[in-house]
Amino acid sequence: MAVDNFEEKINILEKEAKEAINQTLDLAPLEKTRIKYLGRKGEFNNLIKELPKMPEKSKAHIGHRLNSVRNDLETLIDEKLHQLRDKIIEEKLRNEGVDVSRPGRGLSLGHLHPLTKVERRIEDIFQSMGFSIVFGPEIESEYYNFNTLNIPPDHPARDMQDTFWLKDFRSKNPKQNRLLRTHTSPMQVRYMEKNNPPLRIIVPGRVYRYEATDASHEIQFHQIEGLMVSKSISLANLKAVFEEFLKKFFSAKGGKIEVRFRPGYFPFVEPGIEVDIKLGFSPKWLEVAGAGMVHPKVFEAAGYIPGEWQGFAFGLGLERLTMLCYGINDIRLFYSSDFRFLRQF
Ligand code: FA5
Repeated sequence: MAVDNFEEKINILEKEAKEAINQTLDLAPLEKTRIKYLGRKGEFNNLIKELPKMPEKSKAHIGHRLNSVRNDLETLIDEKLHQLRDKIIEEKLRNEGVDVSRPGRGLSLGHLHPLTKVERRIEDIFQSMGFSIVFGPEIESEYYNFNTLNIPPDHPARDMQDTFWLKDFRSKNPKQNRLLRTHTSPMQVRYMEKNNPPLRIIVPGRVYRYEATDASHEIQFHQIEGLMVSKSISLANLKAVFEEFLKKFFSAKGGKIEVRFRPGYFPFVEPGIEVDIKLGFSPKWLEVAGAGMVHPKVFEAAGYIPGEWQGFAFGLGLERLTMLCYGINDIRLFYSSDFRFLRQF
């Protein structure tokens, strides 16, 4: 092909491409035009393939011309691209406009479950009275849940806490038999085995009982165990600690709180008591805890020398206290996952 013809071809391509770019009205067609002229298999590259056929002396000149056309086209496409993008943004602003006076959308943040809130408050109060917080396993052995607490096999007290056993088969060795703990009391011996008195702990945690549910009974609920051991502890200390705790816990309520201690039976305390509470506005007493003086057999199971130490223990029902605190009349609401209930806290 003659040099003149080739140059004419370049001129035509340049003109055609520039027109096409100028007429493009949107981003997608612009990209198509770019591919058509400057793409790998585009018209421009087709021309370049013919360059080797040109006479040697014209190659440099034509090469320059080709380069400058390609640069021009690339610049033009780039400018067009920006133009189109600006136009799209302007159109969006015109059509969709931002109303700066509109109120913001509230972030919907979750919050703590009422039981968690109350548990933390109880922990804070006992910590302020010098108690440490410790935790124990929910899957427990028969040994710690019953035997160390002076509840041997066939003891009628086992029927007081119907149990979820993890296997139907039960071996003769109570350390091997697993269950879902029926109370937080197994932590008494677990903790005393590893720590020397004097000691003051609370153990919050989930417990399980295989029993029918009603407005004040769940099959899984929470207890907060308390244990205080030293050389001279009496029932008077238990009463004082308990009353101080309840006073602080219900301080926000303002009204009168009545506390009633009545005799109760638990094989791991002697004497044993049950604690009931009544709030000023309510006519009903609600049992919130079992308690008493640690039984010598429990100290013995923990490896303490019997007679050397004295202590008190209690087991508070977290759900029951929370119900009193907020005036909730059915324990099953806590586990219903009903937003209408949960949003109130
Ligand atoms: C016990 O579990 C003893 N371990 C408490 C204890 C600890 C006594 C240390 C002496 C020394 P009881 O079964 O009564 O005791 O339960 C204690 C508290 O847990 C009750 O007062 C009640 O508030 C709560 N509770 C018991 N059963 C349920 C239930 N099914 N649903 C909700 N709360 C319950």
